[in-house]
Amino acid sequence: MEKLIHIITKEVAKGFTACGYEETYGTVTVSNRPDLCQYQCNGSMSAAKQYKKAPIAIANEVVDSIKNNPLFDKIEAVAPGFININVSCSVLTAYMKEMADDARLGCDLTTEKKTIVVDYGGANVAKPLHVGHMRPAVIGESIKRIYKFMGHEVIGDAHLGDWGLPMGLIIVYLKEKEPALPYFDEGFQGEYPAEAPFTISELEMIYPEASKRSKSDEAFLQEAQDAVFKLQNGHRGYYALWQHIINVSVADIKRLYDDLNVYFELWKKESDARPYIPDMVQYMKDEGYAHISEGALVVDVKEDTDTKEMPPCMILKSNGATLYDTTDLATIVERVKLFNPDQIIYVVDKRQELYFERIFRCSRKTKLVDSHVELDFLGFGTMNGKDGKPFKTRDGGIMRLDDLIGNVNEEVYKKIMSNREMGEEEARDIAKKVGLAALKYGDLSNQATKDYVFDVDRFTSFEGNTGPYILYTMVRIKSILAKYKEANQEPVLNAFLDGTGEYGKSEIELMLSAVRFNDMMEHAADEMAPHKICQYIFDLANALNTFYHENKIIAEENKEKQKEWISMIQLVLRIFELCIEILAIEAPEKM
Ligand code: ARG
Repeated sequence: MEKLIHIITKEVAKGFTACGYEETYGTVTVSNRPDLCQYQCNGSMSAAKQYKKAPIAIANEVVDSIKNNPLFDKIEAVAPGFININVSCSVLTAYMKEMADDARLGCDLTTEKKTIVVDYGGANVAKPLHVGHMRPAVIGESIKRIYKFMGHEVIGDAHLGDWGLPMGLIIVYLKEKEPALPYFDEGFQGEYPAEAPFTISELEMIYPEASKRSKSDEAFLQEAQDAVFKLQNGHRGYYALWQHIINVSVADIKRLYDDLNVYFELWKKESDARPYIPDMVQYMKDEGYAHISEGALVVDVKEDTDTKEMPPCMILKSNGATLYDTTDLATIVERVKLFNPDQIIYVVDKRQELYFERIFRCSRKTKLVDSHVELDFLGFGTMNGKDGKPFKTRDGGIMRLDDLIGNVNEEVYKKIMSNREMGEEEARDIAKKVGLAALKYGDLSNQATKDYVFDVDRFTSFEGNTGPYILYTMVRIKSILAKYKEANQEPVLNAFLDGTGEYGKSEIELMLSAVRFNDMMEHAADEMAPHKICQYIFDLANALNTFYHENKIIAEENKEKQKEWISMIQLVLRIFELCIEILAIEAPEKM
């Protein structure tokens, strides 16, 4: 469906051209003074310079030439040269009717379908998922869903970290603790046990200890680095042990992403890029892109215009070991080969921005990707505690993701139980959905690049700009619909009237909010900005609740009017449903 704002712009632009001015001055925006008008056009101000005329004179001419257009309920020129516009209610009701008849609620599919890979997992095997893993998962899932909804082919990749120093640390730590295990017997020829020599909880204990040790014990660190090298070069025992680490850990990681309602199309790991490394390295050497510097193989990515330090990309260490750079570059080779993507989006901590700048430059310079391929880095900020420092547990440790989810659910559960009568099981079930919504909405409602403060009390509140408030509004609509159905009949989706009757202020506000949906979605997609969806549904929820308080929907005597209202709130509910689906949030039936 053509966006309402474009329809209005087109008509205003006709006014400009009719009066001899350039069409582009007709651009209309949503009013930033909703107390004065719904939409506005500021084009006369800029046109004034080009045509050397007073802005108000231009505005007056333009308004005169289009004021009889039935699109407008009111259009006027105001000093110093603004054009203030209200559209007529018939336009709004007709527009909503068309939305209601469309499964996509007026949002067109893209005409330029792209294949997009979103790299947004980044959890590391053998390390417990902590709060730092929540942001990429939550933001990335939503970015992926936005693009899918717009009609693109989107592949979400977990890209688990399974190939670096942590693996070496675990191996040497185990070797010290349990030297008798066959993985460490260099002469062992038989089959290694199918069962892992550790459980997930043991594994999660091992890594932090080994990591701590490596910080103070130089020899231990060196041994771990050697182990990584051996592993990368096919040491049989280490390889088998590493398989166990992955199997045990990935099962647990999957469960946690599942709990977050985050689903990947692809469960690739850094190590999956390995087969692509030798050819890539050879190619970079043959084409003269890579050279040896201090024993290591590197590709320079510095440009003359750089003002900040821009270290080269490290392809191989002097001992031939591969690095984080190597796997990311080889992963690009792999993705091009498997999916031929038009765009790759990385949702990663913004502290890795420079790193990705180097990776992108290197892949362009060495032509790993075609020039048309977009490489985007969507860096997210840190989730802080109320003290403004990265969020920690009460005793200062890093909080595990399951604990965080558990705490939020508990908080919501208490709130539900405090003012409603509900069975334990039902309340727990609702708390799980609402809790996750609180957590995700608390995150997604902030611009991704910004740091934000995690505040359980605020996030779980049923009032204000929160997930629970949005869900509560949806539940409210559902309950009105159920009451209506009980007293009358099956609600009709598109019983909109011709818009010539009386429309109250809050009713018009609600309609204006609803008709903005397709425009908002396109902006959210163009700017990779889930927070725009949150802002929109918050405004929509406010409009709905004001409307609800000012009108007695169920008691309304004019049945035709009542039917229109019922259609209106159903449309609003469908918009909410679509939006929260895109944010990967679920709504309960009651709250
Ligand atoms: N595992 C990495 C880390 O913990 C994040 C991975 C981000 N994605 C990527 N393609 N490098 O820092």
